[in-house]
Amino acid sequence: MSCFSCIRTRCNDASKVEIDNDETGKGKESQPRSGNNRKCGAARSFPFRELATATRGFKEVNLIGEGGFGRVYKGRLESGQVVAIKQLNHDGLQGFQEFIVEVLMLSLLHHCNLVTLIGYCTDGDQRLLVYEYMSMGSLENHLFGLSPERPSLSWNTRIKIALGAARGLEYLHCTANPPVIYRDLKSANILLDDEFNPKLSDFGLAKLGPVGDNTHVSTRVMGTYGYCAPEYAMSGKLTLKSDIYCFGVVLLEIITGRKAIDTTKKPGEQNLVAWSRPFIKDRRKFVQLVDPLLEGCYPVRCLHHAIAIAAMCLQEQPTFRPIISDIVVALEYLASQSYASEQPRDGAAPNPSTLSPQQDRSHGKSSTSK
Ligand SMILES: Nc1ncnc2c1ncn2[C@@H]1O[C@H](COP(=O)(O)OP(=O)(O)OP(=O)(O)O)[C@@H](O)[C@H]1O
Ligand SMILES: [Mg+2]
Repeated sequence: MSCFSCIRTRCNDASKVEIDNDETGKGKESQPRSGNNRKCGAARSFPFRELATATRGFKEVNLIGEGGFGRVYKGRLESGQVVAIKQLNHDGLQGFQEFIVEVLMLSLLHHCNLVTLIGYCTDGDQRLLVYEYMSMGSLENHLFGLSPERPSLSWNTRIKIALGAARGLEYLHCTANPPVIYRDLKSANILLDDEFNPKLSDFGLAKLGPVGDNTHVSTRVMGTYGYCAPEYAMSGKLTLKSDIYCFGVVLLEIITGRKAIDTTKKPGEQNLVAWSRPFIKDRRKFVQLVDPLLEGCYPVRCLHHAIAIAAMCLQEQPTFRPIISDIVVALEYLASQSYASEQPRDGAAPNPSTLSPQQDRSHGKSSTSK
């Protein structure tokens, strides 16, 4: 923990929530972004009473999600700002340690692709975290929790999300000093705002990266099954390349619409990386990887590039995996080649100007896109 002072920065279902159904989550206090970096406001300490009032006594109707750390509620602060409030459940030291790391990390790291920590509460034995409210919930919900109100994501939106997540990771790996290894990159931890801008969340497992001549940091193996890099799972040796592997798994989820681990599938298909290997090895089989919900609405050349990026990230040998800055450049190129319904069927690069802003924002498919 003593190392934190040395960090410098070089630079579910929201519809059932009774508070603010008509709001975008941008509270009165939200501030404009400037470039890549946003405000560097410190997280503030909240009295428990204020957070109880904000959620109307942690009413069930305001519950928007639940993870290993605890329950997440939508709330409205006295200032009028709409927030997400995460309440630590009281079983175990691990959660308490993650709480401290989360507060310290997010107090020091600021980027438009990292979720903003507004504050925390440590009254008595209560431990709560107050975040900016991300009105579209998690990427996981949008890939696997589809409903009539939540149609499948378009190709353009998927690439936009992949790029934003990569930029968040690039900030951690290349701008934070010393670098930060995120350790828990997964679709559940990529939150989306009302314009599908992604932000990385949950820094409770994050670690400061190796400094000097050290190539890795040694840790107890933590993270989420299905996303964990093989060498890290085997040896506990954590490097920036462990995050790159996780990114490869997320990119594969984005392309395939399949979960990293899905125990409802038949044996052989439950582990996404293992299932995808034969398809990744053979370009002629690439199309069999694609999420059927895309209904063929994607630029074929870009699909090939995206699969190639995922394949590089998923190399068994960490040293063969790309660095995040190169992934950002590759995804920026894919984002510039957005899919437009007018695009020729041969997959030739479309003219981005043919894509109307309305089409790009809709995560469903336009009537002309089939
Ligand atoms: N800032 C936020 N704004 C809006 N919704 C949020 C926010 N943070 C979390 N949520 C919602 O709460 C759910 C649970 O989040 P949480 O981080 O507690 O668990 P998880 O990431 O799904 O799993 P785990 O933390 O156990 O690995 C998310 O999937 C999301 O739907
Ligand atoms: Mg999470």
